[in-house]
Amino acid sequence: MSMRKRLSGHGRALALSGAGVLVAAGMVAIPVTAAQAATQCGVDYTTNDWAGGFTANVTIRNLGDAVSSWNLGFTFPDSSQRVQQGWSAKWSQTGQNVTATNESYNGSIGSGGSVSIGFNGAWSGSNPKPTSFTLNGVTCNGSTPTTPPTTPPPTTPPTTPPPTTPPGEKVDNPYLNAKGYVNPEWKAKAESVAGGNRVSNNPTAVWVDRIAAINGTPDSSSNGAMGVRAHLDEALKQGAKYIQFVVYNLPGRDCSALASNGELGPNDLPRYKAEYIDPIAAIQGDAKYASLRIINIIEIDSLPNLVTNTSGQPGGTVMCDTVKANGAYVNGVGYALAKLGALGNVYNYIDAAHHGWIGWDSNFGPTADQLKAAAVASGSTVNNVHGFIVNTANYSALREPYIKITDNVNGTTVRQSKWIDWNFYVDELSFAQAFRTKLVSVGFNSNIGMLIDTSRNGWGGTARPTGPGALTSVDTYVNGGRVDRRFHAGNWCNQSGAGLGERPKAAPESGIDAYVWVKPPGESDGSSKEIPNNEGKGFDRMCDPTYTGNARNGNSMSGALPDAPISGAWFSAQFAQLMQNAYPAL
Ligand code: GLC
Repeated sequence: MSMRKRLSGHGRALALSGAGVLVAAGMVAIPVTAAQAATQCGVDYTTNDWAGGFTANVTIRNLGDAVSSWNLGFTFPDSSQRVQQGWSAKWSQTGQNVTATNESYNGSIGSGGSVSIGFNGAWSGSNPKPTSFTLNGVTCNGSTPTTPPTTPPPTTPPTTPPPTTPPGEKVDNPYLNAKGYVNPEWKAKAESVAGGNRVSNNPTAVWVDRIAAINGTPDSSSNGAMGVRAHLDEALKQGAKYIQFVVYNLPGRDCSALASNGELGPNDLPRYKAEYIDPIAAIQGDAKYASLRIINIIEIDSLPNLVTNTSGQPGGTVMCDTVKANGAYVNGVGYALAKLGALGNVYNYIDAAHHGWIGWDSNFGPTADQLKAAAVASGSTVNNVHGFIVNTANYSALREPYIKITDNVNGTTVRQSKWIDWNFYVDELSFAQAFRTKLVSVGFNSNIGMLIDTSRNGWGGTARPTGPGALTSVDTYVNGGRVDRRFHAGNWCNQSGAGLGERPKAAPESGIDAYVWVKPPGESDGSSKEIPNNEGKGFDRMCDPTYTGNARNGNSMSGALPDAPISGAWFSAQFAQLMQNAYPAL
């Protein structure tokens, strides 16, 4: 059963026209000479015309000081010209005068930055281009068009209707009715294992896990050779509609563990911004990719670590204290959100841990507050957040069919069982929906959507219970009935017994934008013993099958598979197990 959320209000001031296809192109460039005054602008106004209709793509280039809001004005030369349906701005028309005002998510244009907007229009007499534009009331330095249209008008009327979502318009759920990008590098690895071709056509996320991954790293020991641009080009070739990237390179990354420590030290925020986020934004903002919905999963584990793994807590670490005190995570995430969220076809989902991490009241509210603080840091606003993802690279079951959190055994609540340990949630679906409500209550937009990483939370195979546990005690009931077979819900590394979970699927449940495979199944979570490498990856004993645990996993065995390579590297034995224990079965 699935339910759609209400559509986002990303504004259309005017109704949709029944206009036709793009068949001819003309371009007008308004040149700008100097850039010393406070407001300086250039406008590129290009159209694709056909008999009676046209699409206009308008790029506003800010050549003056940064602005936090804007309105663009121009006058149609012909009285028949009409804006019918606009995107990425609030459009209005009075007589021949047209105004476009920023949307909440694209009001800021830095000095030297630009914003692309557009509309579908109608004309009957003739369709000349406007010759003068104003930005916030100031005339953009150009006067008359310098480049005449080069293509003659079409002779054959168009037959194909325009796209239902114009480029640059953010849709409510980017996964809906959209084909996902299949990473060919992951596909090849999956198909290197017998039977892998049964699942290798599923979309998985591309992890941009170090600066070198932006341009591609042919000599990498763990990840693929294709860079961000190569993946985007390939997505266009595949005819994909959405592509998923994981933005994962914060200063002092993975502060509570060792297996996914990264290349940047805790004080490297300037490098994170200039050498990591800025280049990614530049590539994702390339107009060539405007037809793709680019989904960014933002910084796994980072903000929840600030809540639960700092001083005074059982899992507190010095590195988490450091990045909390110096603001590296909060400001890094805020910067990433602001930069990437400014792009019209880019969707940010922030990582929000999983139920076995923040499902207790002591962590639930504070994590929502922490996420909010980051969303408004570094000049960002909550409008740069399209939603959140839970269970990334984790193993928490989507549903526990035989246990409800309200169950009791002989009057004792199951919350008192050793497995649940007073948590308020038993599975990811109930947690994701509840956390969504909480996030809206702290100030996130009411149309945010959740993602659940179901790549490895299937828990099928022969060990899967087929009914509730014995009613002897809360522990027999919970342990006998739970499908999640881990020793402890705090175990996270290469879990023995896990299977592939739900295949990627859009809008599966109320409030959930999609089930996704963000952790590419078959890629290791960490090495089971020390393996020297040049990526900053450490050896975390939670990946050692002989480890007997610590306070964070209830001093339980790690449950990790043996002989694992470093995190991110291909681990065929794990992939074979995941297929074996898939739920739903393959
Ligand atoms: C881990 C690794 C990272 C890898 C990712 C996906 O978090 O640290 O390098 O890209 O998993 O497998």
